[in-house]
Amino acid sequence: MTNPIDYDRYDRIRPIRWTGEALELLDQRALPFTVAFETCRSSDEVAAAIHALTVRGAPAIGIAAAWGVVLAAREVEAADGATAAAALAPAMQRLNAARPTAVNLAWALARMRRVLDAAGSDWREVLEREARAIETEDLAANRAMGRAGAALIEAGSGVLTHCNTGSLATAGFGTALGVIRAGVADGRIVRVFAGETRPWNQGARLTVWELQQDGIDATLIADAAASHLMKTGQVQWVIVGADRICANGDTANKIGTYQLAIAARHHGVKFMVVAPSSTVDMQTASGDLIEIEERDSAELLSHKGARTVAEGVRAWNPVFDVTPHELIDAIVTEQGVVERPDVAKMRAIFGG
Ligand code: MRU
Repeated sequence: MTNPIDYDRYDRIRPIRWTGEALELLDQRALPFTVAFETCRSSDEVAAAIHALTVRGAPAIGIAAAWGVVLAAREVEAADGATAAAALAPAMQRLNAARPTAVNLAWALARMRRVLDAAGSDWREVLEREARAIETEDLAANRAMGRAGAALIEAGSGVLTHCNTGSLATAGFGTALGVIRAGVADGRIVRVFAGETRPWNQGARLTVWELQQDGIDATLIADAAASHLMKTGQVQWVIVGADRICANGDTANKIGTYQLAIAARHHGVKFMVVAPSSTVDMQTASGDLIEIEERDSAELLSHKGARTVAEGVRAWNPVFDVTPHELIDAIVTEQGVVERPDVAKMRAIFGG
């Protein structure tokens, strides 16, 4: 139970590569059957890749956007950081607008902006160092959260996860999937279930593939099978990531998370949210204030471009929902674990 985790054995995928000239993104639309990187040479190409879900997952979006700023800097001549900041503002706004719900995007851009404002003539190097730091810190946070989250789980447990929160969605190791990696490595987790995560199938296409690469056994279920699975007693924890955690602990995550939390409470299954502090938004008081991204209804009405639903049928496609803090047993971050979150407990760790 106290064995050190063999990170290399349980974490082999890297979705974001900075070559020094361009940003290479593992194309998550093509997985699992095609493993190919898309090359972005401008910040607008990065913004388009974020919008198209070539790169996805809250921390990965933030990291990609930070490298997007480094690319945007190639187009700008400026004597110091403050002058460069003014010139880069439109490109940064376009990056920020690529997706609305995950706060990591705005957080990473604000971090880039802060160092830029303070930089002198070496502002280009400063930007590159900051993007690298955002990436490196994310990986370290994930490993710390893996240990902290796994420590909450009793030996021999089964878990259910949702969406993809792994190496593909982060700098590496993952958030909820990092806890699962750590829990499997030290024998606490002996059964892993992953929901398909309709309509984009992050669970079916990405999570079970990612776990397979690392030799971790996982069983795929239809999203609709979750309550039935809980009733059978095979899972003791639902473990999910987050796109934004509010000041009171309300958590936005992939659509379907909220119903998992309700079902978990009904069945006496514990519910864990795992996210780095870059996902915590103490400026937003509660989940009602979060903008929920709605995507093209074609994601529901067709498959790989071929329509599967009768012509004329409309669809509504919100891609995130908010789980109220009352349904969350633990929020695990690299700065600490908040059990049964509320405003006071969140403030004690994150200030604000
Ligand atoms: O639409 P996506 O695939 O970007 O949504 C991803 C999620 O909802 C994840 O659970 C969340 O970003 C955490 S990823 C570590």
